[in-house]
Amino acid sequence: MRAWVFHKAGPPSEVLKFDTNWPKPEPSGTKILVEVHAVSLNPIGWKAMSTPPISWGQKKPCVPEADVSGIVAGGELEGTGFSIGDEVFGIVPYDTIMKSGQGVLAEYTLVESKLLAKKPTNLSHAEAASFPLAGLTAWQALVIQGGLKEGDGKKVLINGGSGGVGAYAVQIAKAHGAHVTTTSSPSSNSLVSTLGADEIVDYHSVDLPKYLAEKHGDAKFDLVFDTVGVKTMWEGSEGFLKPEGQYVDVAGPHMESFLTALSAGLDIAGRLYKPKWLGGIKRKYTLMMLHGTQRSPELQEAASLLAKGTIKPIVDQVFAFDDVHKAYERSMSGRAKGKVVVKVE
Ligand SMILES: NC(=O)c1ccc[n+]([C@@H]2O[C@H](COP(=O)([O-])OP(=O)(O)OC[C@H]3O[C@@H](n4cnc5c(N)ncnc54)[C@H](OP(=O)(O)O)[C@@H]3O)[C@@H](O)[C@H]2O)c1
Repeated sequence: MRAWVFHKAGPPSEVLKFDTNWPKPEPSGTKILVEVHAVSLNPIGWKAMSTPPISWGQKKPCVPEADVSGIVAGGELEGTGFSIGDEVFGIVPYDTIMKSGQGVLAEYTLVESKLLAKKPTNLSHAEAASFPLAGLTAWQALVIQGGLKEGDGKKVLINGGSGGVGAYAVQIAKAHGAHVTTTSSPSSNSLVSTLGADEIVDYHSVDLPKYLAEKHGDAKFDLVFDTVGVKTMWEGSEGFLKPEGQYVDVAGPHMESFLTALSAGLDIAGRLYKPKWLGGIKRKYTLMMLHGTQRSPELQEAASLLAKGTIKPIVDQVFAFDDVHKAYERSMSGRAKGKVVVKVE
């Protein structure tokens, strides 16, 4: 089959190669064979390929990427609720890809049956593939970790509301009845406002922690969800986050080398354990990783919200299977509005 594969660590433009003779995977146990129609890219895809120390843990050779939409093509289907020919979408969690090297950027892939859901008929494959990793991360951060419940009317700040994770986060927070403030560039304002954001802050034009403390200091946020990983936001969070509030970060400090990874480790330890008298911040901080293997109920719940149109898929651009290098360029630019998708045909 045709697949994109890397055999050594490096930037996608250098190491990711098109292979027309890659072995087609054989389904076994609870894994279902899916004929891939669309894949969405996530930053972890190129980080695991190119960015130490994450890339050190990646098994090679590797077919990258986690998010897939396609058609059930084989496997032990009895009791799964799926039949050959069903249109499905789902995720191969990145902790699995790190160990197996078997992601989804290929004509066929294997997905655990519980990590697949029927594709809502109102969505194209490209739209369905845009949801799983980013959408489930937002769900886990806001609903599971952050405890958002319908009717609570919590005040939520989403840092980076126009990105892959952020665009789903704004919608999931709104679907749970939250009041949402989000940051974005002016060019993303119309997108985040369509998603339902109540307040949009242009992070280029203000000193963000200072602005938020001035504007929200008297009625602070219950929850901050940081999809960008801005250190000064965490450092200033006492000014705009309630004492019992939570700061949930999925991006964390940025790491490009062993030394930056070391300093990132020290930074995180400081956020988690530094006492106030040593300059620590008195707010609960969580650096969250998506537990993909446990997120099956949320995938099913999200599928029904996607079917009803309560959550809308946000696709930045769709690239052809031959144009994967351009798709990675777009994803790595940090400017995508919603998800970068590759059509597999
Ligand atoms: N821990 C986990 O399990 C997990 C899971 C998923 C993702 N992540 C991480 O979460 C991060 C975000 O992922 P993603 O897929 O959302 O990335 P993305 O789609 O590439 O994010 C791009 C967006 O970031 C926004 N942005 C860039 N700098 C910003 C800033 N200083 N303030 C506010 N917005 C800013 C841009 O908005 P504008 O153009 O409007 O400025 C752009 O829309 C990545 O680091 C990723 O690795 C972690």
